[in-house]
Amino acid sequence: MHSPADRLLVRVDRYIEDLFVPPDPSLEQGLADAAAAGLPDIAVSPNEGKLLHLLARLVRPTRILEVGTLGGYSTTWLARALEPGGRLVTLELEGHHAEVARRNLARSGVGDRVEIRVGPAAAALRAMVAAAERPFDVVFIDADKESYPEYLELSLELSRAGTVILADNVIRGGRVLDGRSTDPRVQGVRAFNTRLASHPRLDSIVLPIAREHLDGLSISIVRR
Ligand code: SAH
Ligand code: DHB
Ligand code: MG
Repeated sequence: MHSPADRLLVRVDRYIEDLFVPPDPSLEQGLADAAAAGLPDIAVSPNEGKLLHLLARLVRPTRILEVGTLGGYSTTWLARALEPGGRLVTLELEGHHAEVARRNLARSGVGDRVEIRVGPAAAALRAMVAAAERPFDVVFIDADKESYPEYLELSLELSRAGTVILADNVIRGGRVLDGRSTDPRVQGVRAFNTRLASHPRLDSIVLPIAREHLDGLSISIVRR
């Protein structure tokens, strides 16, 4: 957070944001409302939001799945990538987070395209698999880090060839590099990254992401 390298990251991140992410009053009000409602300050950054939006747009999605809604910030960026008539399903454990997100999504003009399902994501995903829900074009994983490996396997069951699977926080300030860490979040993400790297149905990479510290976004495409 305080090293010269981290200060440079912050300056570079701000430079890119000033150029490429024009101020959006509805998104900024949503972040302010989320903070006022006591939600943690852990939404993706504006630049990562724009990146998620662009990556999603590449595949002209009509169905997007998100795991971990919080106040709906990343949800808005992703929902704005949907083709006309498209739908986004987002899974959130906390009813209070979902309530805040619903207001924010309505204000940013995507409320009609987004369905929030409240409850543990793993159970929701298993129910979707059991119900044989149509595959998603894009999946964004960003909930509890311990469960990333499970979310990956369930997401694959809700995917088709060409589905793009993205996951946030796969570097976590470099803590994920420590193979001896006993932090279950680090262990969860390490298991997730290892699985991505060797998965027979996936082609993947991790993109380092500048925030206050260095983090990472994984990008995978489901094979034919
Ligand atoms: N994607 C959001 C940030 C999500 S933060 C954004 O960038 O704007 C992670 C969210 O996952 C929190 O809201 C948390 O309540 C939720 N979460 C944690 N454990 C969960 C679980 N088991 N099932 C579903 N959601 C969970
Ligand atoms: C945490 C979770 C996130 O999704 C994130 O982007 C940053 C931090 C966390 O649980 O600490
Ligand atoms: Mg995150």
